[in-house]
Amino acid sequence: MEENKKVLYSGMQATGTLTLGNYLGALKNWVKMHEEFTCFYGVMDLHSLTVRQEPAQFRKNARALYALYVAAGLDPEKNCIYYQSHVAAHAQLGWVLDCFTYMGELNRMTQFKDKASKHADNINAGLYTYPVLMAADILLYQANVVPVGVDQKQHLEITRDIAERFNNLYGEVFTIPEAYISENGAKIMSLADPTKKMSKSDENKNATILLLDDRDTIIRKFKRAVTDSGSEVRFSEDKPGISNLMSIYGCVTGKTMEEIEREFDGKGYGEFKLAVGEAVADELTPLQKRYDELMKDKSYIDQCIKTNDERAAYVAGKTLRKVHKKIGLTELIR
Ligand code: TRP
Repeated sequence: MEENKKVLYSGMQATGTLTLGNYLGALKNWVKMHEEFTCFYGVMDLHSLTVRQEPAQFRKNARALYALYVAAGLDPEKNCIYYQSHVAAHAQLGWVLDCFTYMGELNRMTQFKDKASKHADNINAGLYTYPVLMAADILLYQANVVPVGVDQKQHLEITRDIAERFNNLYGEVFTIPEAYISENGAKIMSLADPTKKMSKSDENKNATILLLDDRDTIIRKFKRAVTDSGSEVRFSEDKPGISNLMSIYGCVTGKTMEEIEREFDGKGYGEFKLAVGEAVADELTPLQKRYDELMKDKSYIDQCIKTNDERAAYVAGKTLRKVHKKIGLTELIR
């Protein structure tokens, strides 16, 4: 990897399976980023601990996420794809940064309030300091850009605030990261309620396309997708259902909204929904095949993990040592 490229950092939590929203909104756009950036992608398993996990399933989910990254086309030789928990520096810098973050700032995090209300029986301190660990993830790699969805923008803001505060006290230690909002990263909405984001935790199974859904399931879910009154395939605010399906179709086929309108001019919703279902199934079939192969070939993924864990640890370790030195922690005697 070239030294002169800017650094990009991102990752996803290792919980459950990914949705079409995660894929079209993020993963698919990550595949080519290495051309412009030195890329680090984490399997964010430490963040997943903020919610109680069943150990065996959790381990499987983390592995599945790694394989999905690769199956979606992220090349583990061109990108550093690694497990957050394998690089101790995340937890170490997380602690240091906890001491540079104010409770008043964390109290303002909307995601914390949201999650705390959903998990009222387990409002743990990790859930509260979640954004600080995320700041550590990003700052350890001196990332310039962080592709995130709107729901993570506030966390990126606090990351910048923490980094600036630290730099003001100790000099230029951290690169100040910027949110990277990609031009073609679509926000995919629920198929059952197009005013809500597509989410893997949706109770209505028909609302969400999972990346590992089979062809028939995908087509059936699209057939059932909520549409709007009228019968025209037209992209507009008063047609949130059809507009969402059009965005999905556009993401997958590369067609513009005007092209899609022309393609389905005079045709009904039924025909359009079937076409979207088929296009999505066609897009996901090769990914699923590759995923199955990867899950069978244990040694290949193991090797990728090992090599990339080491690379990540090297980069992160450099930053951590610098931080320790700046704040006056005693250096290791080697
Ligand atoms: N919080 C992010 C999410 O739920 C996942 C995440 C953890 C992340 N650390 C990160 C994303 C660092 C970008 C950069 O989507």
